[in-house]
Amino acid sequence: MGIDDILLFDETIFKNIDAFNPDYVPENYLHRESQMEALAICLRPALRGGNPINTVVLGSPATGKTTAINKIFNIVEGNSDKVVCVYVNCQLHTTRFNIFSQIYNKIFGHMPPETGVPFSRIYGSIMKHLQNEKKSMVVALDDVSYLFHSKNANKIFYDILRAHEEYNGVRTGIFAILSDIEFRYMLDKNVNSVFIPQEIIFEPYTTQEMFDILKDRIKAGFYPDVISDSLLDQIAEHASSAGDLRMGIDLLRVSGNFAEADASKTIEKKHLTEALQNTG
Ligand SMILES: Nc1ncnc2c1ncn2[C@@H]1O[C@H](COP(=O)(O)OP(=O)(O)O)[C@@H](O)[C@H]1O
Ligand SMILES: [Mg+2]
Repeated sequence: MGIDDILLFDETIFKNIDAFNPDYVPENYLHRESQMEALAICLRPALRGGNPINTVVLGSPATGKTTAINKIFNIVEGNSDKVVCVYVNCQLHTTRFNIFSQIYNKIFGHMPPETGVPFSRIYGSIMKHLQNEKKSMVVALDDVSYLFHSKNANKIFYDILRAHEEYNGVRTGIFAILSDIEFRYMLDKNVNSVFIPQEIIFEPYTTQEMFDILKDRIKAGFYPDVISDSLLDQIAEHASSAGDLRMGIDLLRVSGNFAEADASKTIEKKHLTEALQNTG
């Protein structure tokens, strides 16, 4: 194809290319029923006027931890206005001020002013709101290991979990999400006795489970019959031997792009081969 043809080629095999984005939230969340139930059990007391159960969510990368938290938080917020569910990505937010700004934003719908407001005022507004509205709060600290470098973890855990000492009746809990089992001990070292969590383990997916998940993603992202099951088998094998579901999703997207560049209406073995050379 010439350059014009490539740019203007308006046929596509992608029904929804966003389905292959890292932040896409899949409609169907497969093979994680027991983890979702365990998360629900930890949140249930909060819906009934008690404390959420502190939890550590453990599993290697791409085992669906972030997705699970987002899903369960959406369900809780759809069922109750008595629980504030805050998701914090600790790769992006590592200071006390930043993390409590995220919490503030969730509660009040806007960020606190960046300058001139002391931490204690932001903290006080949050806790007084929870107290007055009789709401409980659970904060998910995703990739919490990022807080260990700056040694902020203990203070932040303390701020959240000991709020009731200063603000009577406030009920708070933490979901700490970790992607490396080694950090489990680091967590105990960095966060002293204030956090005694329940563990929820996200085991690696089996090849068959990866196949099912990728098949579902294909349905969301490609038009029908773009890719055969036997090619998908190979992709699931690659992802499984790398122990990384994300690799499977990437391979689908990249081989789809190679198929389009080839003006092909289906993804063929050669497109996968090209994709494998490109995704390393
Ligand atoms: N059970 C699942 N069903 C559908 N998609 C999943 C499932 N588990 C993970 N994914 C997808 O895999 C990718 C990685 O999931 P994510 O929740 O970010 O994993 P983690 O937070 O454990 O690294 C995302 O694109 C997500 O949509
Ligand atoms: Mg994650």
